[in-house]
Order: sequence, then C-alpha cells, then structure tokens
Amino acid sequence: MQTFYQLFDETSSTFTYLLIDASTRDAILIDPVDHQLERDMAVLRDAGASLAWVVETHAHADHITSAGHVAMQTGAKTAAPSGCDIKPAQMQLIDGDTLTFGTQVLRAIHTPGHTAGSMSYLWEEATPDGPLRRIFTGDALLIDGCGRTDFQSGDAGTLYDSLTRKLFALPDDTLVFPAHDYKGRTSSTIAQERAHNSRVAGRTRDEFIEMMRNLNLPRPKLIDVAVPANQRLGLRDGESVPHGA
Ligand code: FE2
Repeated sequence: MQTFYQLFDETSSTFTYLLIDASTRDAILIDPVDHQLERDMAVLRDAGASLAWVVETHAHADHITSAGHVAMQTGAKTAAPSGCDIKPAQMQLIDGDTLTFGTQVLRAIHTPGHTAGSMSYLWEEATPDGPLRRIFTGDALLIDGCGRTDFQSGDAGTLYDSLTRKLFALPDDTLVFPAHDYKGRTSSTIAQERAHNSRVAGRTRDEFIEMMRNLNLPRPKLIDVAVPANQRLGLRDGESVPHGA
C-alpha cells in the first residue's frame, strides 16, 4: 500500500505531504492548506491512514493552514517549530526533535533563514531496498531555488548557512520535497541541488546575500492575513484543538 502522498494546491502552488507507516497506517500530515481540508480528509480515508500528527514547516505568508481544523476532525496532535510563535501547537519543536508515527520517525532539522523558526523534516523510511530518505524543506530549499528572505524575520546569510551546512550535508540521494513549486516540478535530490541550484551553487555567502538583496519581489498579497491566522493554526475565534495527551 502507498505510504507517501504529495498533494498540490493550485491556488497557492503549495505541496502538502502525507506520510504513512506501512505497518500500522499511522500518519503525519505536513503543511495542509485551508481550502483543501475536504480533499485531505478523503485522501486520509482512502489511504486507511490514522493521523498521529499534523505539522507545519513555518508560519506561511501565502496561504492559510488547515492544521487546527485537521486536528479537530481527526484527533491528531499538532506540532510546529518553536521559533514560529504558533502558540496553539501542542508540540513546540526544536532542532533534533522527533515525531513518531507507528514505527516511523520524522526528525526536525532547524533550517532558519526564510523565517527564523523554519524547520525541515527528515523521514528515513525503511524499505526492502534500504532506507528511502526524504527531506521536506518548507521554503528553505526549493527546487532550483530557495525561499525569500526579505520579510518575516528572514535573513539571507542565515539561509545560506542552513542550505550549505545542514541540507547539503545530507546524503546525495536524499529526495527533496519543497513546500512550493511554481513550474510543475515535484521533487529533486540533495546531489542535484548542491551541484546545480541556481541561487546557491557556485556562490559565496556574500554573493548569495547580495543576490537575495536585489531580488525586489512583490509583497505577498495575503501576508497580513495569513501570518496571524497561521500563528493560530488557522483556527478562528472560539475554536481550539484539544490539549493534553
Ligand atoms: Fe513561506
């Protein structure tokens, strides 16, 4: 049975990931999007998955999460990076923390720079052919790109360090799954990005900082709404996720 689903939201070009333990069907959902809640519930049902955790890579600026509502509907626990000020999340993750689903483990790797709190998550799934390594990079490392660093506690030098010292230190064949892609691509590898990522490869730290400073990107349309909403896990006034456990 399928243990991994990559789901896409056309409106925000956001990827949501569902990871399932092959033996127990316990699962983790990464970065769900508000208006895809029904789709995601259907995928969970069809996959026979029981959601243990819903987790965010960071407080997004371009869409609103459904994490709070997913938790309300499924009983999953919520987790978020401790540096993102997402207060309702039951587990506040720091570097090296792990989330367990069935016999599987997802490990948090702090990769600041796009935002100060941003986390990547590493899943080493045991398969008959050996471990299948996947890294979920949020908006730190994108396919042939990287997240912007010009708002929301972003810092280009810090992002360069996260990319070159933490993510590019992973084994070559680690599959890279970003939070977004705008050109129809779905995954890459650490070897590919280390060698060819057009923002990072061949650039010094200072050159990277200078290039990022000159991107002049438009301000995200939803940022003033999305960030505060995401810091509440997308929950509205009067709604809450069950605490404890
Ligand atoms: Fe982002």
